[in-house]
Amino acid sequence: MRVDRFLSNLPCFNRQQVRLLLAEKRVRIDGVVTSNPHSEVREFSRVEIDNDVLQLGKPLRHFMLHKPVGCVSATKDPQHPTVLDLINEPDKDDLHIAGRLDFNTTGLMIITNDGSWSRRLTQPRTKLPKVYYVETEQDIGPEYADTFREGLYFAFEDLTTQPAVLELLGPKSARLSIVEGRYHQVKRMFGHFNNKVTRLHRERMGPLVLDAALKPGEYRALDSHEIGLI
Ligand code: URA
Repeated sequence: MRVDRFLSNLPCFNRQQVRLLLAEKRVRIDGVVTSNPHSEVREFSRVEIDNDVLQLGKPLRHFMLHKPVGCVSATKDPQHPTVLDLINEPDKDDLHIAGRLDFNTTGLMIITNDGSWSRRLTQPRTKLPKVYYVETEQDIGPEYADTFREGLYFAFEDLTTQPAVLELLGPKSARLSIVEGRYHQVKRMFGHFNNKVTRLHRERMGPLVLDAALKPGEYRALDSHEIGLI
């Protein structure tokens, strides 16, 4: 059914109010804002206005996976195994990845069908730190931390990266905390100094920490406390 009809059928809104709600971008279907009156509401779609849930939709699911090297952060790939191949759950087509990792990057990956929750986790506006353990080919110089804190200009996107925090752990290893997830961001930041990243592992996304009990390739459902943190 069209979303405008779905909303007008409810006792609380007339047609003009529905038009306004859509125009003000207050309506979300499966976590995605829509202003299009023709958007489709299905039996299992979740429909929300502001913080009110009008139709529950499918049960929300949230998983943390320890991504191993050698699999792609995609739901489908013609050549390589994907992170979804590691998940043994029904209705996998509903799931999406919150914050991709490169083929050889390991660590915390969140997989969910909860669109608004995952957006809060990944959007730069919420400034949740994503924390990476990094190893590099060359020594990490003392000037890196200042440069990362000041931000680096990424010509392709025409933007300057948000302040990032670098903690040196050894001559060629560090912990880096960034609040965005630009394409190959960490590698490009070290690439600024012509220093190749040889190992990259995501330890944390905001308050969600990779469970040390999970071996590479293993996953578990988030508990209600973890879900409530975002
Ligand atoms: N930055 C990168 O360069 N690669 C990742 O996988 C994650 C962050």
